[in-house]
Amino acid sequence: MINKMELKFSASLSNEILARQAVIAFISPLDPSLEEINEIKTIIAEGVSNAIIHGYELDASKDVFLKAVIDKDELELTIVDYGKGIVNLEEARMPHYTTRPDLERAGMGLTIMETLSDSFAIKTLPGMGCKLVIKKKLAKETISYGTTC
Ligand SMILES: Nc1ncnc2c1ncn2[C@@H]1O[C@H](COP(=O)(O)OP(=O)(O)OP(=O)(O)O)[C@@H](O)[C@H]1O
Ligand SMILES: [Mg+2]
Repeated sequence: MINKMELKFSASLSNEILARQAVIAFISPLDPSLEEINEIKTIIAEGVSNAIIHGYELDASKDVFLKAVIDKDELELTIVDYGKGIVNLEEARMPHYTTRPDLERAGMGLTIMETLSDSFAIKTLPGMGCKLVIKKKLAKETISYGTTC
């Protein structure tokens, strides 16, 4: 069966932990391994921090959207911002490329997310924002989300 959740939160880095923990709680019925938990936390941290730092330039009046869907053994994460967008996506995806060396960013977030995902897609338009869709297979399939009472 399919299970889904959506979260909308202010573009503040303090909400990164909320985003990570919400998804980890959401997938907990699948009994993910520690490795899977850590990889998913990393993917979310990188995606959400990009939305906040680059998309919205730390403007906490803006909103970040996070959706998670579990379909059988696959987790699909969607992270959306309606911020600046990316002008040159090919360049942005290159390891060590960053537009914010002043903030000591390493330029590795997109590369890390892609490496840890089974499928990784970015849609972006300058001035319109950025949408990441990440798919990751989990080792176990959920048995049931139904309640017993
Ligand atoms: N949501 C976004 N909105 C606008 N620009 C983005 C977004 N995500 C990424 N970018 C652009 O792509 C570049 C590369 O992103 P990436 O996450 O790989 O590195 P970084 O965020 O600069 O550094 P790190 O993730 O290692 O801290 C960013 O510097 C930024 O210019
Ligand atoms: Mg980044």
